[in-house]
Amino acid sequence: MRLDKYLCESTELSRANAKKCLHRGEVTCDGVVVTSSAFKVPAGCDVRLLGEPVMVRGLRYIMLNKPQDTLCSNVDEVYPSVLSLLGVPKAYSLHIAGRLDADTTGLVLITDDGQWSHRLTSPVKVCAKRYRVQLADPLTLPNPELVAQFAHGIALKGEEASLTRSATLEILSPTEVLLTITEGKYHQVKRMFAAVGNKVVGLHREQAGRIALDPDLGAGQWRYLTQHEIDSV
Ligand code: URA
Repeated sequence: MRLDKYLCESTELSRANAKKCLHRGEVTCDGVVVTSSAFKVPAGCDVRLLGEPVMVRGLRYIMLNKPQDTLCSNVDEVYPSVLSLLGVPKAYSLHIAGRLDADTTGLVLITDDGQWSHRLTSPVKVCAKRYRVQLADPLTLPNPELVAQFAHGIALKGEEASLTRSATLEILSPTEVLLTITEGKYHQVKRMFAAVGNKVVGLHREQAGRIALDPDLGAGQWRYLTQHEIDSV
């Protein structure tokens, strides 16, 4: 890897500032001052900036318990981006694998590994996502017809030509259900319930694939994924 890129990936420096540090003679490789941005860093090289060792970060994999009124976006707009909650270097260079609406809470996966997030979000890969849903209108119980309707597929408004993929509905109480879907259409859960004449008033993602939201994470808290969780995708 080029030395300027190495510095960018291991520190908060932009490429331009990394070059300035190099020109000022602040960077050493195995004890020798290197000023060339194009210098190729050999494997195992001891790179130092102002005498402090700098090491390239590995890929990052994070789970966040998204609070309400935050955006799954790389920019802060009406609400702050979920990335603003991380407080890690270069947080805004990470991307969000599977977005949630501003008012939806729960599991958000964040990474800089494009292939990994593609496996989670690509429509051709089947990745089940489980949501805990609060409904405005109480359901009658039991309700095998509704369960069957979700399993069969729902015609969303504006997309009547095709049905949603089979979804698993588990009714916990008249106003609380668990819904597992394997697609990520725009506002899908809200639109599925709208199509059956109900309204979602609370939506919380609990699981994506085999990764479940860590119950120890309060709203707004995050942690790095374990190797086991990373490998499960
Ligand atoms: N479905 C929705 O309607 N909203 C979300 O945030 C996620 C799934």
